Amino acid sequence: MHALLGQSIDSLDSPQLLVDLDVVDGNLATLQLACSQIGVALRVHFKSLKCANLALYLKRQGVDRFLCAKLNEAEVLIEAGLTDVFIANQIIGPKKLHRLAELCRNTGVSVCVDDSDNVKYLSEAATAAQSTVGVLVEVDIGMNRCGVAPGRESLELVQQIAASPGLQFVGLQGYDGHLQMLADHQERRVKCLQGLDALIATRRLIESQGIAVQVVTGGGTGTWEFVSAFPGMTEIQPGSFILMDCAYHTVRPEFGCALSIMSTVISRRDGRYVLDAGSKSISRDFGTPVIKDHPAETVVKLSEEHATVLCRNGDAPRVGESREVIPAHCCATMNLHRSCVAVRRGTIEAIWPIEASGRYW
Ligand SMILES: Cc1ncc(COP(=O)(O)O)c(C=O)c1O
Repeated sequence: MHALLGQSIDSLDSPQLLVDLDVVDGNLATLQLACSQIGVALRVHFKSLKCANLALYLKRQGVDRFLCAKLNEAEVLIEAGLTDVFIANQIIGPKKLHRLAELCRNTGVSVCVDDSDNVKYLSEAATAAQSTVGVLVEVDIGMNRCGVAPGRESLELVQQIAASPGLQFVGLQGYDGHLQMLADHQERRVKCLQGLDALIATRRLIESQGIAVQVVTGGGTGTWEFVSAFPGMTEIQPGSFILMDCAYHTVRPEFGCALSIMSTVISRRDGRYVLDAGSKSISRDFGTPVIKDHPAETVVKLSEEHATVLCRNGDAPRVGESREVIPAHCCATMNLHRSCVAVRRGTIEAIWPIEASGRYW
């Protein structure tokens, strides 16, 4: 593999997952600048990356806070030496609680809760492991996924956490996942601000009871600008903005698409061609991918190992030529691959394992 470093991407076999580092740098710089001007922290969601070397690459550029969706993602980050890790999810069951409590020993790992029994079991696991688990209460601000109601219900859970040995109350999470892809910018803004009103009112209620709220975190790539500017929010937690995809790019054109699947034309007929990459290497849960730099070529079908592409100008590339496919969902595409190739201006800079891909517990 190392023989490929410094070579052109033409020396790679296909299909191959590429990460364009110049585009990553630009996306990160855009959000880092905005966050520093506003005075809010940036926590990057690792579920979009799943690759320790990519997280370490971001760390070298000043990112030291990471978010995870899964316990195994947090384990990958801690193993890589990244310590400020927040699992924005409920960790349930004795096996996982034991793993979490062990992970929290001497690290800055924190976790979300939305259930009184879970708080009790988490406290017992932390006490048994002689560790301290940082805890954020997940507040449902309209997504109707996890989370307790804003206001009194959240306060009661916070009071339970504050009284539980082995736990340290850190703050609140309110994620507006239902708004991320809303096409209408103004509607997305208005609905986002409504949810944040409820979240910050909950913060004030908790503080009125003499309990400090250090962190209030939320937002994603689709709502980052509204969440970051909202008084009382301390942190935003987007992930997709780093790699991006063609679905998010339609609502957030300020971020470039850094992720692509390099593939080869294996068949061609009048006005159409077929690539050697399909739904097993390009996620299609958020829609159809696009062909990079070839707007007249449209993907019309993804089967397991084939992408069928129509050429509007009738001029199909020849068999053996290559194309880069930009997926419609970067996070799910990272989960389909076991390694990615980091490239800069067409040259291979590194080949990185994607350690947390394909792991579900
Ligand atoms: C808890 C949480 N925070 C933030 C995000 C934002 O991620 P993205 O920027 O990729 O939309 C997500 C996405 O699933 C999430 O579940």
